[in-house]
Amino acid sequence: RRRLRSLEELPWLGRLHTFYQLFVQGYVLRLHELQVLNKAKYGPIWINSVGPHSFVNLASASLIEQAMRQEDKHPIRDYMDLWKEHRDVQGLAYGVFTTNGESWYHLRQVLNQRLLKPAEAALYTDVVNEVIDDFTARLDQIRAESPSRDLVPDMAQLFYHFALEAICYILFEKRIGCLEPSIPADTANFIRSVGIMFQNSVYCTYLPKWTRPLLPFWRRYLDGWNTIFSFGKKFIDEKVQEIEAELQASRPDGVQVSGCLHFLLTKGLLNPQEALGSLPELLLAGVDTSSNTLTWALYHLSKNPEIQAELYKEVAGLVPAGKTPQRKDIAHMPLLKAVIKETLRLYPVIPTNARIVMDNEIEIDGFIFPKNTQFVFCHYVVSRDPSVFSEPESFRPHRWLRKCESNAPSVQHPFGSVPFGYGVRACLGRRIAELEMQLMLSRLIQRYEVVLPPETGEVKSVARIVLVPNKKVGLRFLQRQS
Ligand code: HEM
Repeated sequence: RRRLRSLEELPWLGRLHTFYQLFVQGYVLRLHELQVLNKAKYGPIWINSVGPHSFVNLASASLIEQAMRQEDKHPIRDYMDLWKEHRDVQGLAYGVFTTNGESWYHLRQVLNQRLLKPAEAALYTDVVNEVIDDFTARLDQIRAESPSRDLVPDMAQLFYHFALEAICYILFEKRIGCLEPSIPADTANFIRSVGIMFQNSVYCTYLPKWTRPLLPFWRRYLDGWNTIFSFGKKFIDEKVQEIEAELQASRPDGVQVSGCLHFLLTKGLLNPQEALGSLPELLLAGVDTSSNTLTWALYHLSKNPEIQAELYKEVAGLVPAGKTPQRKDIAHMPLLKAVIKETLRLYPVIPTNARIVMDNEIEIDGFIFPKNTQFVFCHYVVSRDPSVFSEPESFRPHRWLRKCESNAPSVQHPFGSVPFGYGVRACLGRRIAELEMQLMLSRLIQRYEVVLPPETGEVKSVARIVLVPNKKVGLRFLQRQS
């Protein structure tokens, strides 16, 4: 007979303690470091309280595995009340992030078709490569303007512009000018609004509702979202008009099905209101994630010139200089894929994930948790766990390659590093993100030697919802001889 354990045995950090850690000790922007601290103090499982909610924190691969494998048929990550409130105020449909239950399942089924299936995601290779052409042109302009003629002073910002341009082109089939020397006003306004929405959402989460009419945060939060949605609406309205014009010009079956939005609307999989509910959320999910991962990857390649040289050999061995890497080439680039995996192990760009288990009570490590328990998965501390990854603080992409190494993927714990999440609610954009990052990194390494200038120095991470560098990451790009 197994002995079941009482929840009383678990360390419980009350509201005051959590408040102290977040706001007095300043961990609110270093939540990933708080995982490390709390695991060292309290062990791999502890409970903490924030406002009226309590969270069960899981900080080992085996605990995360147990929770993830028992997830519900329609898993819930978070109730997303703050996002829902905006949709409710404006009468908008919920998107794939905000909604749960059957309506989430329906949306996911639809969106998976065009975004998650590997063969479908591969259709976007030319689209992404076209944006990378413009990216390298912009990179060359920025280099040429720098005093040393080879420096890009802020890689994260440039990658942000790339990721936004690429995801807009994929979703809406429209270019929005992020990689032009002067960014169009509409696009710049959108970028600003995303920042405003996220900054103010932090205050709106922690301040009581009665403060909303008295303080500026709630109004700014709603305004931020409104601009984000009107940006998306413009594209959807234009697309509906294009489709109507096509329908008038030809029989319905004569309509050309091209990009994502076109496909979803013409196949009747989403109506324009549903598209408006989901697509702006996809824009948000698809920009900071890929762009920061690319920044970390390039930063580590510049710190490890021998790994970069090996990667160059891999790319140049398959794609002659002057030719553009294609998806079929990527299939033969194991080191490139390992570099991305290792980057996401060190910087799981979403350092903390969550599940609310609704359907049944669940047992984890002998503890029985009641229905409706909110679990927090501490991925950052787990993917640096020395019992799962040897030398966990080092950038060692080869750990994902060599079968003989004790750290080879076949030996590592399968839940040691799960940067895209798990199960039916895992990242919807995973294939797109991988495609973007693989095509971008292979092209950059093919064209340039990337060097870390001494003035950039050591870069640390801060948690602004996603893990971002604590300062500008300047890198030098030395053109390779063709
Ligand atoms: C390096 C790139 C990325 C990483 C590491 C990443 C990671 C994640 C993670 C950890 C989740 C939560 C999964 C779970 O709860 O199990 C998630 C959800 C999601 N991601 Fe990504 N993501 C990336 C890029 C993208 C891109 C490019 C898109 C858009 C095309 C995207 C769209 C989404 C959406 C819509 C969800 C919510 C899915 C749902 O609730 O059903 N992500 N992502």
